Amino acid sequence: MPSSLVWTIAVVGSFYACLGRAQRSGGGGGSDDSSNIPVRPINLLVINDFDNDLANKSVSNSLKALKDKSPDKLGQVYVALVNISDGEETINSVCSVWKSALRSNPDEIPDFVLDVTTFGAGAETVNRFTALLGIPTVSAQFGQEGDLLGWREITEEQKQYLIQVMNPADLMPQVIRQQCLEFNISNAAILFDDNFVMDHKYKSLLLNVPTRHVIVPTREAGEPLQQQISRLRDLDIVNFFVLGDEATIAAALSAASKLNFTGHKYGWFGISLVQEFSLRCEDCSSMSLMLFKPKQSQNQQQLNELMSKGLLQIPLIMSAFYYDLTKLAVLAMKSALDAGEWRRPRFVDCDEFNENVTVAMRNVDLRRRLRQVSSGSGFSPTYAAFHWGNKNGENHAKFDVDVKLWIVKDSKVVNEDQVAFWEAGIDNKLKVEKASMAANHTAVTSYRVVTVIKPPFVMRDNQTGNWSGYCIDLLNQIRDLVQFEYEIREVEDKEYGNMDEAGNWNGMVRELKDKKADIGLGALAVMAERENVIDYTVPYYDLVGISIMRRKPKAATSLFQFLTVLETDVWLCILGAYFFTSLLMWVFDKFSPYSYQNNREKYKDDEEKREFTLKECLWFCMTSLTPQGGGEAPKNLSGRLVAATWWLFGFIIIASYTANLAAFLTVSRLDAPVESLEDLSKQYKIQYAPIINSSEYRYFERMAAIENRFYEIWKDMSLNDSLSDVERAKLAVWDFPVSDKYTKMFQTMKDTGFPKNLDEALERVRAEDKTEFAFIGDATDIKYLVMTNCEFMQVGDEFSRKPYAIAVQQGSPLKDQFNNAILMMLNKRKLEALKDQWWNKNPLKQQCDKADDQSDGISIQNIGGVFIVIFVGIGLACVTLIFEYYYYRYRPQARQRHQDRSSKTKLAPGVTKPMKFNLRPAPTQSFEQTGTGTSGGGGGGGVGHRSRY
Ligand SMILES: *[C@@H]1O[C@H](CO)[C@@H](O)[C@H](O)[C@H]1NC(C)=O
Ligand SMILES: *[C@@H]1O[C@H](CO)[C@@H](O)[C@H](O)[C@H]1NC(C)=O
Ligand SMILES: *[C@@H]1O[C@H](CO)[C@@H](O)[C@H](O)[C@H]1NC(C)=O
Ligand SMILES: *[C@@H]1O[C@H](CO)[C@@H](O)[C@H](O)[C@H]1NC(C)=O
Ligand SMILES: *[C@@H]1O[C@H](CO)[C@@H](O)[C@H](O)[C@H]1NC(C)=O
Repeated sequence: MPSSLVWTIAVVGSFYACLGRAQRSGGGGGSDDSSNIPVRPINLLVINDFDNDLANKSVSNSLKALKDKSPDKLGQVYVALVNISDGEETINSVCSVWKSALRSNPDEIPDFVLDVTTFGAGAETVNRFTALLGIPTVSAQFGQEGDLLGWREITEEQKQYLIQVMNPADLMPQVIRQQCLEFNISNAAILFDDNFVMDHKYKSLLLNVPTRHVIVPTREAGEPLQQQISRLRDLDIVNFFVLGDEATIAAALSAASKLNFTGHKYGWFGISLVQEFSLRCEDCSSMSLMLFKPKQSQNQQQLNELMSKGLLQIPLIMSAFYYDLTKLAVLAMKSALDAGEWRRPRFVDCDEFNENVTVAMRNVDLRRRLRQVSSGSGFSPTYAAFHWGNKNGENHAKFDVDVKLWIVKDSKVVNEDQVAFWEAGIDNKLKVEKASMAANHTAVTSYRVVTVIKPPFVMRDNQTGNWSGYCIDLLNQIRDLVQFEYEIREVEDKEYGNMDEAGNWNGMVRELKDKKADIGLGALAVMAERENVIDYTVPYYDLVGISIMRRKPKAATSLFQFLTVLETDVWLCILGAYFFTSLLMWVFDKFSPYSYQNNREKYKDDEEKREFTLKECLWFCMTSLTPQGGGEAPKNLSGRLVAATWWLFGFIIIASYTANLAAFLTVSRLDAPVESLEDLSKQYKIQYAPIINSSEYRYFERMAAIENRFYEIWKDMSLNDSLSDVERAKLAVWDFPVSDKYTKMFQTMKDTGFPKNLDEALERVRAEDKTEFAFIGDATDIKYLVMTNCEFMQVGDEFSRKPYAIAVQQGSPLKDQFNNAILMMLNKRKLEALKDQWWNKNPLKQQCDKADDQSDGISIQNIGGVFIVIFVGIGLACVTLIFEYYYYRYRPQARQRHQDRSSKTKLAPGVTKPMKFNLRPAPTQSFEQTGTGTSGGGGGGGVGHRSRY
C-alpha cells in the first residue's frame, strides 16, 4: 500500500503541477451567468469507499428522506464508489462518473461533492480532484488540516468551499491524549479495530506527550490477540487503550484476563463509539475498565424516530453524523443557491483539464452557509451537533464523552461509576470528576527487578517469601523518592553476569540486556565489560574487594594447663625428690642423737615438740613447698640441713613454675600467622582457592594471564635479533624481571582444586585436616560469614576493590532518577544508617569469644583444673571423714569387748549408745577418756595429733 500511495502521489502530483501552470498562465473559463436566480433543486456527487457501508447506508437514507420530504431541494444524485487504498483507481472511477454527470441535462449537473471517504491514497486523490476542478465539497474525511494532503495548497478562496468536518470516530481517539496528559501515563499501547482510522494519528496523537506508545490494529480475538498483548507487555507497556466496538473490547479484556494482566499494575481503557455499550466479557475474572463512550444524544426523540425507521446503523453516532452531514450539506448548498450566492460555473471534466484551464473564483462561502443552516431552525442534529471553526481541522462533530469506570467480577459488571467527562474536541481537557478513583485505575509503574540472593544485601525468607536486606531497603527508599512499584525475582542461574568466550552473558546482566528486567539489584560490582551492555547508577556502597577467610585457630585450652608448665619428667623428678627427701629426714631424725625423739627429757619444757615420724616428714616436705611453710623444723643440725636444702629446692621450683605458668596461660602458640595474600603466596602449608568461575577466580586467572603476557613481551624483547649486542646486554638479567606471583598462585590453586560453591568452600575451611584451607572470596561474603559464624576469621586487606551499584537497562531513563535518589540518600546519610543496620545491628550477628591475647585475663578453660583439684581434695577429705567416723564407732565396740573380758571397769554402753542415734561430732570428752585409757599403749601420740591438726 505505501508504494501505491507514493505512486499515486506522483501521478496526482503531476496532475496538480499542470494546473499550477494553467493558473499562472491565466485564461478564461468560469461562468458568465445572468443575474436571475435559478430556482432548481441541488444536484450532488457522492464519493464513497466501496466498503464503507455505514456511510453508504446513512447517506443514502438521508438523501432518500430529503427527497421524499422536499423534492424541490434535492435533485440528481451521482455516486462514485472508489477503492480508497488505490489512488489511480479512485481518480479513474471519480472522473468517469464526473464526466457522465457533466454530459447530462444542464439542470442535473452536480453542484457540489459530498465526500464520505475515510483516509488514504484514494481520499487524497479525491481532495486533489475537487481542489483542481474547483468543486464545492463537504468532506467527512479523517484527519486534521495537515492530514488532508490533497488540500494542503488550496487558496484562501478555496478554503471557503472545500470544507471538511471531523467525524466522531476521528475525534474520539483524541481522548487518549488527554488521558495521558491528565494522569501522566508513561507508556501506552493503542489497539484499534476497523471502526477507527488511525493512519494519520501515528505521529500526531501523542505528539509532545511524554508517553512511550505503540499504535497497532488489533489482531483477531483469541490466541493471536493474546500473543499481541503479551508482546506489547514485553515492551514494558502496561496501559492498554482499546478502540473498537463491544466485541473488540471484550476480546481484549478476556485476553488480559487469560494472561493475568489485570490488577493495579495494568491499566485497561476502552474507547468506543457505541453509546449503549454493554460489556460481555465471558472469562473476565476480576478487573476494571475505564470506558470512554459518547454521551446520550441530545435529540433522543429524533434518534429514536430514525432508528425505528431503520435508517441508522451502529455505531449510531457515526451513522447519525453522516445522515446529518448529508442533509446539512444539501440544505447549505440550496440556501446558497437560493440566495444567489451560488452560480454554478462551467465545470470541466478530467479530460478537458489542462494547463490552460484555470479555476475561477467560485464566490461561495460554503462554511458560512453550513454554519447558518446548522444553527437555523430548519435543521436539528440527530446525535452530534456541529462545531464550526475558521478552517479545516477546526470543524468537527460536537458531542460529549462519558468516562466510566467499570469494575468486573466473575464476568459481571459489579460497579459502574462516572469518573470524568470530556467534551470532544482536539485540545479539550478531560474534566475529571472523581480524581482519586480515576487515578487509581491508571496502571502504577511497576518495574521488574532481578536479583541474586546474598546476605545481608538480598535475603529471602523461605516460609513467607518476603525479601529483606540492605538492597531491598535501598530500593524501597528509592521508591519513596521516585514513585514506582516493583516485582522482584531471583535470576534463574543465580549469577550476577559473566561473559563467556563467545561474548554471551548470563545472570542478571543477561536479563537486563534482553530487556526481561528493568532493574538489576544486588551486590553487583561495577565492571568495565558489563558497562558495555548495561548502565550502572552511582555506587551505593563502599569499595568491596577480594578477601581471605581462614578457620580461627583453636587456642589450645586445657583445664590442667598448669600441669603442662613442667614436663612430665620434671614432675616425676620432683615427686622422686620429695619422697627421697622425706625419707632422708625421717632417717636423720631417727639416727641423729640430737633429734627430739632421742632427747625427750632435754626438750621437755620446749614449746615445739615434733617427732619426725615418716608421716611427719612427708607432711613437712609437702607443706614446705606451699606458702604455709613446713612448720617446726627438726632440732638436729643434719635434719635442718636436709630441710634447708629442700626449702631451697622448693623455692627454685616454685619460682620457675610461677614464671612459666604466666607465660603458658597467656601466649597462644601459633604458627607464623598468614596476614595477607603475600603471606599466602609464600607458604605451602595452607591451601587456598576461590570458587570456580567466580569473579575472584577470574581475577586470578586474568592476573596470571597478564603476567604471562608480560613475560612473552619481555621474552620477545630480549630475543629480538635486531637489537645490537649492547642493547641486548642491557636487557640481560639473571632474574625474571616480571613478577610471577599470580601465575604461581593460580597454579597452586589449580593443584589444590577449586571449590564448586560456597558450601563446599566452607566445608573445606572447616575441615580439621592437616593442611588448612583458606578461602578467597568476595569481601562482603566473607565479612558476613565471619560475622555470623565464630569459626571463621578474615585475614589481610581487601584487594581488587570495586564499587557496588544498581544496574539498569542501557539507556534507561531510570538511571538518572536513581542517581538522583541515591545521591540524595547519600547526603542525608541514609546509606550509612542502612549499612549500620545490616552489619552492626544485624540480629544474626554472633558475639564471638575474642581470640586470646596478652591483654586478656586467664580464662577458666585454662585454670579450671585448679578448681577440680579443690573439689577432688574436698571429696577426699569427706571420704576420709566418713571413714574416720565409722572407724571410731567400730573401735569402742572392739575395745569394750576387750575391756569386758580384761577388767571390771564400767564403761557404760550408754556412753557410746546415744551416738548411734544422735548423729553429732564424736564427743572429744569420751575420746579424751579413752585416750587417757589407751595412752599407755599409744605412747602420748594422741595429744600430739590433736595439737597438730
Ligand atoms: C451504496 O452501495 C450501493 C451498492 O454498492 C451503491 O449502488 C450505492 O450507490 C451506494 N450509495 C452510496 C451513497 O454510497
Ligand atoms: C493466571 O493465574 C492463574 C491463577 O493464579 C494461573 O492458574 C494461570 O496459569 C495464570 N496464567 C498465566 C498466563 O500466567
Ligand atoms: C494553451 O494556450 C496556449 C496559448 O494560449 C496554446 O498555445 C496551447 O496550445 C494551449 N495548450 C493546450 C493544451 O491547449
Ligand atoms: C484503589 O484501588 C485499591 C485496590 O485496587 C482499593 O483498595 C482502593 O480502595 C482504591 N482507592 C480508591 C480511592 O478507589
Ligand atoms: C531456603 O530454601 C533453599 C532452597 O529451597 C535452601 O537451600 C535454604 O537452605 C533454605 N533456607 C532456610 C533458612 O531454610
